[in-house]
Amino acid sequence: MENTLMMISAVFNMFVRARASSERIGEVFSQESSMRWDRHSVKSADIKGRVDFENVAFSYEGVSGEPVIKNINLTCMPGGTIGIIGSTGSGKSRLVSLIPRFYDVTSGSLKVNGEDVRNIEPKKIREKIAVVPQKTVLFTGTVIDNIRWGKEDATVEEIERAAMIAEAHGFISAYPEGYQIKVGQGGINFSGGQKQRIAIARALVKNSEILILDDSTSAVDVATETKIKNSLKKYVRDLTCIIIAQRITTVMDADKIVVLDDGEIVGIGKHDELIKCCKVYQEIVKSQVGKEM
Ligand SMILES: Nc1ncnc2c1ncn2[C@@H]1O[C@H](COP(=O)(O)OP(=O)(O)OP(=O)(O)O)[C@@H](O)[C@H]1O
Ligand SMILES: [Mg+2]
Repeated sequence: MENTLMMISAVFNMFVRARASSERIGEVFSQESSMRWDRHSVKSADIKGRVDFENVAFSYEGVSGEPVIKNINLTCMPGGTIGIIGSTGSGKSRLVSLIPRFYDVTSGSLKVNGEDVRNIEPKKIREKIAVVPQKTVLFTGTVIDNIRWGKEDATVEEIERAAMIAEAHGFISAYPEGYQIKVGQGGINFSGGQKQRIAIARALVKNSEILILDDSTSAVDVATETKIKNSLKKYVRDLTCIIIAQRITTVMDADKIVVLDDGEIVGIGKHDELIKCCKVYQEIVKSQVGKEM
């Protein structure tokens, strides 16, 4: 009897902890239970890290609702950096949230490594992808625990390497406690930019095929941001990197910049091309000249 009660209490504790962590994660995978995948159709990946959007549309209320994203045709290749820019509410976060199946497309097809993601178990697809969400979520514990959350069995070397690329190693090592420094509730003892860099290190330690940064350097100064981008290029060569930004300077040197407006792509190209022919891009540049540039 005593044993049974202990078991029940242990299971209950696990449940409460699991629930608390899922709340901490911030993203509620509300659609997951209704998501289907066909186990038999999963084939081995051809090109690691390739992402294809084919006529993708998404609306919150299903097929009948007004789409927040529509007519999306886009290919992201490993080794390249894709920048996504557009005004607030233009659909940037929603677009990338389709890749790890936080939401599923309403119509069209989204493929990762040539495979429609709807045929892949959400857990499996998320192993390939690291996302730094727009809102940084740190939990109470040490910095090393926070970074290790990206990969449970990460070694100290792996963690330090990720933190170096994310330009976080310097400020973390400056604490007497180093990586054992405690993170207060909601990361209160760190600045916005420091929190973002810890979150980037967490994503990098995962060593994924696809890395998505959703406005993840918005609180980091431009010089530090440039260092992070350069390190990413140097150390993580075959990664598919998708960077969402509000600032032109963040995406300016991307291999391909996607301009979103009201849920649609209104321009794809390099900075030099877009500045000549994409009106929305020109307007964004104009509004930011003299601020950060
Ligand atoms: N849960 C929701 N239900 C219905 N509509 C939503 C929901 N979340 C977002 N939207 C709408 O979807 C559109 C796209 O939102 P999204 O978050 O992708 O914009 P964004 O480009 O990332 O903006 P920001 O730069 O502010 O982060 C917006 O018009 C928004 O109002
Ligand atoms: Mg967003």
